[in-house]
Amino acid sequence: MFEGIIRMFKEKDGFVSGEEMSRRLGITRAAIWKKIKALREKGYVIEGSTAKGYRLIKTPEFSVEELKILVKGDFGKEIIFHESLDSTNTLAMELAEKGVSHGTVVIADRQLKGKGRLGRTWFSPPKGNIYMSVIVRPEIEPKDATLLTIMSAISCARAIRNSTRNESFPTGLEVNIKWPNDLMVSERKLGGILTEMKSDQDRIVFAVIGIGINVNASLDAFPSDVRAAAASVIEELRKGKGIKGDSPEISRTLIIAAILNELERWFKVLIKGGRIQLINEWKKLSSTLGRKVKVVSGKDTFSGIAEDIDEEGMLILRLPSGGLKKISAGDVIMLR
Ligand code: BTN
Repeated sequence: MFEGIIRMFKEKDGFVSGEEMSRRLGITRAAIWKKIKALREKGYVIEGSTAKGYRLIKTPEFSVEELKILVKGDFGKEIIFHESLDSTNTLAMELAEKGVSHGTVVIADRQLKGKGRLGRTWFSPPKGNIYMSVIVRPEIEPKDATLLTIMSAISCARAIRNSTRNESFPTGLEVNIKWPNDLMVSERKLGGILTEMKSDQDRIVFAVIGIGINVNASLDAFPSDVRAAAASVIEELRKGKGIKGDSPEISRTLIIAAILNELERWFKVLIKGGRIQLINEWKKLSSTLGRKVKVVSGKDTFSGIAEDIDEEGMLILRLPSGGLKKISAGDVIMLR
């Protein structure tokens, strides 16, 4: 119902009469008034005029109703939102086990036990960061699971670039991908992706793509070790020309919608066997290739030049000896 009202506001630029709303939604004008009141409580600024009806002035920086209007395909058709969760990935894994449909998204305003890669914690304070998990049911073999993460990193990087583009910041944020799936801007980490899955011997039953992006939260609140290497969308735009003076909040709705629409596109590429297309796009967005790096992989550390990514998403390192080393998982540290 809320969605119906927002849709009507978006169709026109001006007032929508209470009479029109009540007719199109099949509820009384008193019921419309109650919905408008509830929308205002959710943070929508709606002007009301006895003669003309209602006019939308401002939407909150995050709104599930608006998100549903902006998503175009399967990803985000079902959205489950919680103010606070231990981890969106944990809930998404449970829901996937219970059979929820492909493309269902779990979003939280904050996480109490946010999970990062390699058993780490993902610092997840409230106030405007993205914590979301997308449930997918891809018909691919477990050995190709890395492609899911690559597809997600591509989608996130492209989405943030495009959704932060505006008149005073025409290129958007220059988000790159550090192998395997760190979202980077100005060599600092803006976000990360944690893919978890259930598979049997020859197929993935379901996977959960967990995406964490620092959008509006102040980095001052971050633990000092994380802060040193972290970035947020708002602070990057403040540094550039995008935001002048007192910064408005960046819309999580627009970034999430852009991510879900990109996921829709790249997931199709993945299931149609477009492995090469994915790897090529990943390479275009990579900040790792061609760089001198140190890679910590389990108990081993390797240094060399990050030369390429193979068809399975493994990092190919040119060692000082001249030999090549393929690495499937680890942390990359840029050396120069
Ligand atoms: C990384 O370590 O780079 C991956 C971080 C992934 C964090 C996201 S936030 C939403 C989802 N839920 C979690 O508990 N983790 C992922």
